[in-house]
Amino acid sequence: MGYNFGANRAAWTFFVIVYTTSVSAAAGQDNLLSDLGLDVLDRAKINISLQEYTSVLSTFLRTKDDSFEEVPELRVYRLDNLPKQGPTRKPLKMLFSVPASTDKIESATLRLLLPPQHNDPRVINIAVNQILGTRRKRFIKEEIFYLSNNLTKWCEVDVTDAVLSWTRGQKNLGLELFCRNCHNNLNPSISAITALVHSSSRRKRSIGVSKGRTDCSLRHQKGKGKRKCCRHEMHVTFTKLGFKQMGDILEPKMYEAGYCQGMCPPNYNLATNHSRIQGLMHQLNKREARNFKNKTMVVPKTCCAPSKLGDLDILIVDSQQPDKLKVEKWQNMRVLECACS
Ligand SMILES: *[C@@H]1O[C@H](CO)[C@@H](O)[C@H](O)[C@H]1NC(C)=O
Ligand SMILES: *[C@@H]1O[C@H](CO)[C@@H](O)[C@H](O)[C@H]1NC(C)=O
Ligand SMILES: *[C@@H]1O[C@H](CO)[C@@H](O)[C@H](O)[C@H]1NC(C)=O
Ligand SMILES: *[C@@H]1O[C@H](CO)[C@@H](O)[C@H](O)[C@H]1NC(C)=O
Repeated sequence: MGYNFGANRAAWTFFVIVYTTSVSAAAGQDNLLSDLGLDVLDRAKINISLQEYTSVLSTFLRTKDDSFEEVPELRVYRLDNLPKQGPTRKPLKMLFSVPASTDKIESATLRLLLPPQHNDPRVINIAVNQILGTRRKRFIKEEIFYLSNNLTKWCEVDVTDAVLSWTRGQKNLGLELFCRNCHNNLNPSISAITALVHSSSRRKRSIGVSKGRTDCSLRHQKGKGKRKCCRHEMHVTFTKLGFKQMGDILEPKMYEAGYCQGMCPPNYNLATNHSRIQGLMHQLNKREARNFKNKTMVVPKTCCAPSKLGDLDILIVDSQQPDKLKVEKWQNMRVLECACS
């Protein structure tokens, strides 16, 4: 009686999980955003200056735990005192001296300090194009900027694709900003591109020094069985998880979270004393089941699961003070070690 109920419930739970995950990666996870504190930021109020961004980000990168991934470096390409545009209705053109290189671009953001919009609309729509030739351009991104009626305001837009192509050797002819609902009247006083870059000369830095003893890559090097329980790499890109709010995370944009998978043969890497008992019960049950041919359920084997988890430092806009950045510690965001549990 009790068994049947349990089995039915297990089957039902399984059905629900399969059903919801097949709808969308983000469905059924409504609480995730509030649990991570990502649901309270008012995008219209964000006003992060270039100075605030570069100073907080430099400190963040300098102190970042780099045992799982390479830490990028911050590069800033500034254009100060841009000429006043006047009443022209031409799109704003800007040329940043981003050179070709073999560096790997993680992300790049255009940051503009825009003047108050006394009578003009305060919510403007900007399309950024990469200039490819006299008549050719490539669409990069469209973004909404929330401006102020009486104060200057910092606005930002992702220009990773353009910076990426310049570093790969596409001739750098600059960017063009097209603002339909403000007649291209932007007049930024400061304009800069900030980029997070993995320098090709520094890329070979020794990472993985503190890799857990169950790391699959270490095991593979030693030539032991690949299929036993170990820690595999799992590279997560926040923006691909299906939540728009995850785009508000400034750093890291992606991280290596890890997962546990593999077989748990008898006595192999048992996590706790309980796991050892369960392992013994499994063997005992199996023997009994073989001897007496009874169909009762056998205690399952231990399974490969996280045995040690680690935190992740997240750089994000402070929802209480939208002109400041803060570092948060998100708990248990990555697997450090796996064991049979
Ligand atoms: C700017 O305008 C807002 C209303 O939009 C007003 O509350 C605020 O006091 C003004 N600030 C200054 C410095 O004039
Ligand atoms: C945005 O920040 C700048 C300083 O970087 C400040 O001068 C400006 O008044 C702020 N604008 C708003 C709308 O708070
Ligand atoms: C349980 O296991 C740990 C090792 O994982 C050991 O240190 C501990 O003494 C064991 N026994 C008890 C009674 O907790
Ligand atoms: C199988 O049946 C035997 C005899 O009835 C019993 O002693 C044993 O506990 C059973 N095994 C399991 C795994 O239930």
